[in-house]
Amino acid sequence: MTISGKAKLAGVMGWPIGHSRSPRLHGHWLERYGIDGAYVPLAVAPERAEQAIRALPALGFRGCNVTVPLKEIAFRTVDRLDDTARRMGAVNTIVVHEDGTLEGGNTDGFGFLESLKADRPDWCAERGPAVVVGAGGAARAVVVALLDAGAPEVRLINRTDARAEELAADIGGPITVAPWVSRETALEGAALLVNTTTQGMTGQPPLDLDLRALPVAAVVNDIVYVPLDTPLLAAARRRGNPVVTGIGMLLHQARPGFAAWFGVEPEVTADLARFVLEG
Ligand code: ATR
Repeated sequence: MTISGKAKLAGVMGWPIGHSRSPRLHGHWLERYGIDGAYVPLAVAPERAEQAIRALPALGFRGCNVTVPLKEIAFRTVDRLDDTARRMGAVNTIVVHEDGTLEGGNTDGFGFLESLKADRPDWCAERGPAVVVGAGGAARAVVVALLDAGAPEVRLINRTDARAEELAADIGGPITVAPWVSRETALEGAALLVNTTTQGMTGQPPLDLDLRALPVAAVVNDIVYVPLDTPLLAAARRRGNPVVTGIGMLLHQARPGFAAWFGVEPEVTADLARFVLEG
């Protein structure tokens, strides 16, 4: 599709950026909705990220997504933060307002919940304790989203216990930290298990977690999407647990940015997931 001189501009900033699926995702939506716009990869080194973010209004960009390792820099650079970004300590979506100011939001938690609800309409946060594995940026987004959605308890387990304690203290609310050495006990009576670590990704070992204590009714969600069927999800499926793959979070987190920059609420479909994964 060609673009005109009036094309609406957005993109994704990260370092490196070559593996990002976001240009493919937004490009598909732009074409589908016949929008005169472009969404481009922006390879920006961390030491130049502040400069690049500040340049968005001057370049006429309507905003951009921000990915690893620039989300905390974006958090410190924007003029205003929405509540979610403030609590997560990271920004993944920047909107340039008419007056040239930059607003930072974080849609990762939204994407996680929307994906879970779309794939398991019967699941609801109030149903029981949620176990979250990991304590990085993704874990932060998932924990905030679960608490906001009404989870009665979030049990956090992380290889480095101190990092989980820190996350729990930062976010507050009903978060309990279970030590990594006895992590399996956290699975007892849980209604949801989410892996936010890099374990199970292509080239990484599987997540080292025995599922024996997990109720068979518990939903298991891996946010890793390469491969789509991680060893954790395969093990969960074998024992009868309902599973949610990681691609939905990527697709759904993109919706608010697209709507803000291009003026259309985009739809997530099964075809879209296939198209984005093929790229
Ligand atoms: P992100 O911000 O994308 O979530 P991150 O901050 O690098 O990424 O966090 C990666 C997560 O994977 C962390 O929770 C990390 O555990 P540590 O806090 O102990 O580093 C977890 N992780 C990485 N390698 C792991 C391994 N071999 N076993 C278990 N957890 C691992």
